[in-house]
Amino acid sequence: MQKYFILFGPPGAGKGTHAAPMVKRFHLKHISTGELLRSEIASGTELGKHAQALIEKGDFVPDEVVEGMIANTFAANPHVKGFLLDGFPRTVQQAMDLDEMLESRDEYVTGVISLMIPDDVIKQRIKGRALIEGRADDANDETIANRIKTYHAKTEPLIEIYKAKGIYHEVNAVGTIPEVEERVLALMDTL
Ligand code: AP5
Ligand code: MG
Repeated sequence: MQKYFILFGPPGAGKGTHAAPMVKRFHLKHISTGELLRSEIASGTELGKHAQALIEKGDFVPDEVVEGMIANTFAANPHVKGFLLDGFPRTVQQAMDLDEMLESRDEYVTGVISLMIPDDVIKQRIKGRALIEGRADDANDETIANRIKTYHAKTEPLIEIYKAKGIYHEVNAVGTIPEVEERVLALMDTL
């Protein structure tokens, strides 16, 4: 059996930051749908061209696009101990489709690690990252606001779904990076 962890949280919560130590310690394959999409854009593929305009406005790309990328990554990594899903699922449909994908192979989501952070801290972190990484979707206030609004409207409802399954775990993501990392790894030790 492979393990399937979901690293959950709003834009700028620290998913990418904490994914690195998590995958190292627990020998997981990291799948960031945002990073996969940015690499499609950088390579100029058809998928990337289609996704670029949506991402630059802070809108989601269609469910089937990200689900295709997830399915391909699962299929390409049959021997890893498990996967850390970063930025997926983020709609109710994606969560249902993930369950279906896993059930068809007798697998299930092992646990959801949810990084909790207020909207004002999100904005500060994204603005800080804009100066370092130059991501197109970090560049203006309207896009950042739309990403946060879309998170609350479309992604937050997943919390109740995973709570009902008894696999939802919250981590306070406010604090220094080492402090939050310690909390995340301590939780992972129990899952
Ligand atoms: P994606 O790349 O997943 O972006 P996101 O969810 O908006 O999250 P971020 O990557 O912005 O934040 P993060 O949580 O990784 O934070 P980070 O560690 O970098 O997706 C981009 C776009 O792709 C989406 O908007 C959508 O259009 C599309 N997309 C992706 N997946 C999709 C899906 N499933 N369905 C549909 N569309 C999809 O940290 C942020 C900053 O804060 C960094 O600078 C970091 O150094 C700093 N920081 C982190 N922790 C701390 C701390 N404790 N103290 C101080 N600073 C900190
Ligand atoms: Mg990220």
